[in-house]
Amino acid sequence: MVMLMEQSSLMAILAEEYGIKSPQELAEAIRRMKREQDVCLLAHSYEAREIVEVADYAGDSFQLSVMAAKAPQQTLLLCGVRFMAETAKLLSPDKTVYLTSPTAGCPMAEQFSPEAVRRYKQEHPDVPVVAYVNTTAALKTVCDVCVTSSSAVKIVRALPQKRILFIPDGNLGHYVQQMVPDKVIDLFPGGCPIHGAVTPADVDKARSAHPGVPLLVHPECPPAVVALADFVGSTSAIMEYAKKSDAREFLIGTEISIAEHLQYDCPEKRFYPLTVRLICPDMKATTLADVYALLSGEGDRAAAQITMDAETMRLARRCIDEMIRLG
Ligand code: 13P
Ligand code: SF4
Repeated sequence: MVMLMEQSSLMAILAEEYGIKSPQELAEAIRRMKREQDVCLLAHSYEAREIVEVADYAGDSFQLSVMAAKAPQQTLLLCGVRFMAETAKLLSPDKTVYLTSPTAGCPMAEQFSPEAVRRYKQEHPDVPVVAYVNTTAALKTVCDVCVTSSSAVKIVRALPQKRILFIPDGNLGHYVQQMVPDKVIDLFPGGCPIHGAVTPADVDKARSAHPGVPLLVHPECPPAVVALADFVGSTSAIMEYAKKSDAREFLIGTEISIAEHLQYDCPEKRFYPLTVRLICPDMKATTLADVYALLSGEGDRAAAQITMDAETMRLARRCIDEMIRLG
């Protein structure tokens, strides 16, 4: 209801100021400006449907970083959260990178400080620090290798050391530990406030409403939820699994937009969010109006532009390069 009201008052302003009379015209104007300005719009799959529909590419964190580096355009407009835009900038230092909604951040990315990692390294100089990509560029400067949810198991397995520190997501770290039992993985409390709040009671409730329907979850969910799942994977792994599966119905244990996008992509199947609480407010911060404002020059491009000092770029990039080498 609130979204509808916001949408209609926004349309009224756009109609008055720019003569844009419908959401379709707004999307068309965005597509035209992207072409004229040679801009590549990258959207994480947790973004709302209307954002994904105007994007040149939508995917998980790892795929977005690959596309950021590959895109021929000189300007990247990222719809997602800050660490994703920082990763895009680290991989494409010569491109201009904007985060469409400059205040959109992943709360997990801020949970660990570079000082805490330095202290740990002083006490454990031989233990590599593995950072989930959901971390700030400043934190990446003191870590050894990054992982995404799709590459974490493979990269941890590939590391020569037996003991590692995995930050900041304790749930993902626990999942990796189960998949790579021969390693000793140090974990600290931390994780995604959205996935971390899902409970086995949510699974019971969803399964009573949809008996026999397979449950697909993101490894950021608590171990007790992951243990009940039929499939565990990154955002895009969940989407791929659901598309290829012969099953007709699915319970989706990750951000609610994934169930929505899957429903558009596979209209013959049925997708149910595991719980309606799986909404990431930071991923929903970006609106089509923000995209329009930035492209039309009305938005604050200085606030949206991602910049980092040369030393941060150099050190944080090492961590990402190591991820690409091992992953
Ligand atoms: P992916 O790595 O699966 O894209 O997940 C990113 C994220 O923020 C999950 O909450
Ligand atoms: Fe961060 Fe969780 Fe939102 Fe992903 S869903 S961006 S981990 S808060």
